[in-house]
Amino acid sequence: MRRYVLKNLVRDWGLEGAAERAQSYGRVVAELRSRYQDRLAEEGTSPRVLVPGAGLGRLCLDIAKAGFHTQGNEFSYFMLLTSSFMLNHCERPQQWTIFPWALASCNQPSDAAQLRPLSMAAGDFVEVYGSPEQEGQFDCVATCFFIDTAHNIIRYLEVLRHCLKDGGLWVNLGPLQYHWAEAHTYLEPGMADSIEIPLEDVERIAGELGFRMLRREIVVAGFNTNLRSMQVSTYRCAFWTMRLEKG
Ligand SMILES: C[S@@+](CC[C@H](N)C(=O)[O-])C[C@H]1O[C@@H](n2cnc3c(N)ncnc32)[C@H](O)[C@@H]1O
Repeated sequence: MRRYVLKNLVRDWGLEGAAERAQSYGRVVAELRSRYQDRLAEEGTSPRVLVPGAGLGRLCLDIAKAGFHTQGNEFSYFMLLTSSFMLNHCERPQQWTIFPWALASCNQPSDAAQLRPLSMAAGDFVEVYGSPEQEGQFDCVATCFFIDTAHNIIRYLEVLRHCLKDGGLWVNLGPLQYHWAEAHTYLEPGMADSIEIPLEDVERIAGELGFRMLRREIVVAGFNTNLRSMQVSTYRCAFWTMRLEKG
């Protein structure tokens, strides 16, 4: 198993990851609950939420547990196989013991009934949700530590616009630690494209695409923090909710 998958197991499913989840997933879920409280209270009108870059599926599960129809999207086979295992093959708390940093980390399982509204679409976010049949399919997209995984973040913004309904919400939490920024040092030209623009430009371009900022703050959140490490770092994350006006 890849090392980053083990670290993500702690973040998404380990007891040690609870504080880190509260910093990110907790905020995103609370925001969704407050934005959609009226629709959640009505029978049969659950909003559809897309979670691109779903990792090991915990945010998807938490959003589904809050009453939303949730679809995760992920392109890494390592993440997909592991999230499938966690979501579908764990039956009771602490059924499995994993040793990600030579420390025992126990997994939290899920309740099959809670998983019903949750689905996972394998594939590249741009390819899957940029297709014509995905136009306007979602009430909301929740991105958590995801938008900086893009080779071209502007393309991500365009696809977000494409798959959201008019009036839909985009809830985002994460840094701009562009994942491909150093790729030119180890990948062939053509494979290493990376557009790295600052936050103010991301927000400006989103605005040009029709996204209107409803709330915005900078919040501190960790990512794959090893609580026993002598070095612990955190991110100052952009946390916003924007409403899409397609015009
Ligand atoms: C930094 S991780 C964050 C995972 C999770 N959202 C979290 O907060 O822990 C980014 C995730 O996005 C996935 N990913 C990156 N680019 C993607 C793409 N173009 N389409 C789908 N998933 C992607 C990666 O495999 C990884 O699981």
